[in-house]
Amino acid sequence: MNKIYEEQLKKYIDLTDKNLKEFLSKPGESEAQSKLIEAMRYSLEAGGKRVRPVLVYAFCEALGGNYKDAVTAACAIEMIHTFSLIHDDLPAMDDDDYRRGKPSCHKAYGEAMAILAGDALSVLPFEMIADDSKLSSDQKISIVSLLANAVGKDGMIGGQVMDMSYEKRSDITDEMLRAMYRNKTGQLIAVSCVMGGICADAERDKLRTAAEYGFRLGLAFQIIDDILDVTGTAAEMGKLTGSDEKDEKTTFVTIYGVEKAQEIADQITNEALEWLDDFENTGFLRELTELLLRRKK
Ligand code: IPE
Ligand code: IPE
Ligand code: MG
Ligand code: MG
Ligand code: MG
Repeated sequence: MNKIYEEQLKKYIDLTDKNLKEFLSKPGESEAQSKLIEAMRYSLEAGGKRVRPVLVYAFCEALGGNYKDAVTAACAIEMIHTFSLIHDDLPAMDDDDYRRGKPSCHKAYGEAMAILAGDALSVLPFEMIADDSKLSSDQKISIVSLLANAVGKDGMIGGQVMDMSYEKRSDITDEMLRAMYRNKTGQLIAVSCVMGGICADAERDKLRTAAEYGFRLGLAFQIIDDILDVTGTAAEMGKLTGSDEKDEKTTFVTIYGVEKAQEIADQITNEALEWLDDFENTGFLRELTELLLRRKK
């Protein structure tokens, strides 16, 4: 990444980290609530690439807005994503003990608290959007509606249900996998791009284009995640590799092998990049897209 874009990336990540802390800075009103907030912050502040908040800011700027107007939407999506990871790691789901370089939330705080910390991180974002002073009522309603849809039965949660029901099966096809990835991973990534556009008050057709890009990036992102689960190192990724094999998941790697899966991710990334042709200031987004394709974590 060139130096200017690297600084832009750092600016977005720092702003996200600072505001995530602030949203959860109020001390608990009881010992129990303090523990809950501690568990929420444990997973939220453990690190993570902050890909989704970065997309919110980058789309806000690419579509002519001021990225500072997108801070709440950026923090909201990172909370939702963190909730999805906490629940994804639970014994009832992928049963993974490490996340973001530390013991998973349920390993540090117990299963009940991890479930509840995830629950709390799934609803706080909607309160934050509703209370935001920078967004108009119309912007808030659009964001709440699209975000809820991207998270719920037709979105990430629906995709996670498909993921669980596909475990230990030998009849999962490329098409079934793509549809599952579109929901479990693509929806949160696509809505990040769209929310950035809403914060910039962008036209409807621009928001549709942002979603088209986001779904393709999301699919490529999940295929690379499948590859890294086989080829990556736990030290770099902050999570244990081999999780998919342990849970007998069908992935792009089990269907195609690493090399062909990488080729498919390359091709889908190129399709994503083509959708950026509709926008003007896309230098940063193009470099970010390529960076995510070549990532090691
Ligand atoms: C992990 O997401 C889960 C997937 C959708 C593949 P990230 O790779 O963005 O995880 P963090 O936020 O960096 O920890
Ligand atoms: C997770 O996919 C997608 C979510 C909605 C959390 P994975 O189960 O492959 O994510 P990792 O590999 O545990 O991060
Ligand atoms: Mg999973
Ligand atoms: Mg998992
Ligand atoms: Mg994975």
